[in-house]
Amino acid sequence: MQSIFKGKHFISLQDWSRDEIDTLLEVSLDLKKSFAMGVPTPYLSYKTIFLMFFEQSTRTRNSMEAGIAQLGGHGTFLDTSTMQIAHGEVAKDTAVILSRYGHGIGCRNCCWGAGNKYIRELAKWSTVPVFNLQCDLYHPMQGAADLMTIREKIGDLRGTRVSIIWAYAASHKKPISVPLTQVLLFPRYGMDVTLAYPEGYDLPDWGVKQAGVNAGAHGGTVTVTHNMEEAYRDAHIVIPKNWGSWVTNQSDEVQGELLESNKSWKCTEELMKLADKDVMYMHALPADRNNEVEDSVIDGPMSIVYDEAENRLHTAKAVMTLTMGGK
Ligand code: CP
Repeated sequence: MQSIFKGKHFISLQDWSRDEIDTLLEVSLDLKKSFAMGVPTPYLSYKTIFLMFFEQSTRTRNSMEAGIAQLGGHGTFLDTSTMQIAHGEVAKDTAVILSRYGHGIGCRNCCWGAGNKYIRELAKWSTVPVFNLQCDLYHPMQGAADLMTIREKIGDLRGTRVSIIWAYAASHKKPISVPLTQVLLFPRYGMDVTLAYPEGYDLPDWGVKQAGVNAGAHGGTVTVTHNMEEAYRDAHIVIPKNWGSWVTNQSDEVQGELLESNKSWKCTEELMKLADKDVMYMHALPADRNNEVEDSVIDGPMSIVYDEAENRLHTAKAVMTLTMGGK
């Protein structure tokens, strides 16, 4: 099937077909090999991408900035608190102007109920591709890197048992974008997905329903449980990670009582023993060590978190190459 990537927005992987995602993974692997061999890949020479961040970032910012440099282009980091957005400039005006200056616009905006809408408004007015660098609903850059990593480790993903498990964290009320992206994406590759969380930490009903539809179309399954041990049992991959109770309570404030009552949802060596003997531990990072996960797990032989983070670079470069360059 022919796909036109040039100019395509990258806001949710749900907007990309299986064939398009497969091509994205192939290009990512190609770029990874070139990087390892020191072969230059100047596919985006003299092209500029603007990288707008409403929130902090380590991996996303640096994989995009290093990535565009390795492709021969330039990335402009924009802390939105220093832009006229802070004085109320609207998404339309920002998108039109940045489109005239460069070749791509990336944006992270995780504000609940507003982030995805803001990025889609940018895309509505932009004449260059818009990249979601994480919003309140989706983190497609992370999802692509996760899929690439699992494929590298396992190969054919059909029948792979992957458990997306809520975990306790003490820092801040984190978005649901990583687990929602994963639960939508993995069943499209025939994986058997278990989504486990304590009562009150639901993902949106429409998301879980769509995940089931994705599973039905591609031979995967989606199981929802509030039993943490059930999620670890016999899993090939576990992804224990915190997310906020946004669906049941839209306040920015952490719900202290609900959170503290679920402190036992921590990935431990004992729980990992319930999983498959070759189980792999994944986390998008940053991890809240000793709250979400014991050091002995994240630093242990089952952990593939650094391989997963490394693939952020190659998938980011592939997304930019296909949509900002190419045919
Ligand atoms: N996983 C991820 O998006 O990391 P950053 O928040 O550091 O970008």
